[in-house]
Amino acid sequence: MPIYCITGANRGLGLEFVRQLAADPQNTIFATSRSTSADDISDLKAVSSPNTHVLQCDVADVDSIKSFVGAAGKVLGAKKIDFLLNNAGAHFKPEQTSLHMDPEAILQNVRVNVVGTAKVIQFFYEAGLLSEDVRILNMSSGLGSMERSAGYSPRICAPYSISKAGLNMLTVHLAEDLKAKLPGVVIIVMDPGWVKTRMGGEGAILEAEHSIGGMLKKLHGLKSEDNGKYFMHDGSEVPW
Ligand SMILES: NC(=O)c1ccc[n+]([C@@H]2O[C@H](COP(=O)([O-])OP(=O)(O)OC[C@H]3O[C@@H](n4cnc5c(N)ncnc54)[C@H](OP(=O)(O)O)[C@@H]3O)[C@@H](O)[C@H]2O)c1
Repeated sequence: MPIYCITGANRGLGLEFVRQLAADPQNTIFATSRSTSADDISDLKAVSSPNTHVLQCDVADVDSIKSFVGAAGKVLGAKKIDFLLNNAGAHFKPEQTSLHMDPEAILQNVRVNVVGTAKVIQFFYEAGLLSEDVRILNMSSGLGSMERSAGYSPRICAPYSISKAGLNMLTVHLAEDLKAKLPGVVIIVMDPGWVKTRMGGEGAILEAEHSIGGMLKKLHGLKSEDNGKYFMHDGSEVPW
């Protein structure tokens, strides 16, 4: 009876994670949304199972993350999270280049994509709510890869790209630091590909169903030697 937690689950890739996971009634799912107004979570409610708990969490707000982890802990009781999917992500100021970035554009991307993810993991760990062999997926991007970005001309989405590279580095650190506390942990970063969501925008090529199906297959087959690695949605490794 695995227990999943997915951030940013009200739309896009997070919603598709819930849709596929909720199809198995054995799965317990914690699905977060920044807004829990009826309109904002109507799609999420539509794909939820009776074992899906929708909780509020703004990953740009440390107090909101703390409250969410506390609320999840009350539902969990003595149970623990088996799969933590840090999916919530933001893409502020995609048009800005490295020569013209607002400080705020860099900070907003980092606040959501790096700090938010770090604090979700930290607070769940500190609350003792991660299972001994928890699998953690931090949702990165091909734009977080130094090698891939170096191959793009023109280089694009500098503030976002910098934040996803930061998320990759956070994961490399956590792969060591968390393993010292939870020896069975496997934490990875994944690139979902260019997917048809609001963030993916015009020109995206992959269906969310395909990308998420591939990521769940990889997640469920993770081995201890995968700890700290960077994978594509199809399971292949991405160069850092
Ligand atoms: N689609 C792609 O091609 C692509 C490619 C590479 C990486 N990714 C990554 O995949 C993940 C999901 O992206 P997506 O394509 O599904 O994007 P999306 O359709 O824009 O959805 C983003 C999700 O993140 C949530 N979110 C944003 N800021 C948040 C905050 N401060 N607190 C809590 N939730 C927040 C959004 O909630 P609201 O509705 O409240 O804004 C929404 O649920 C992101 O990490 C993204 O960087 C996507």
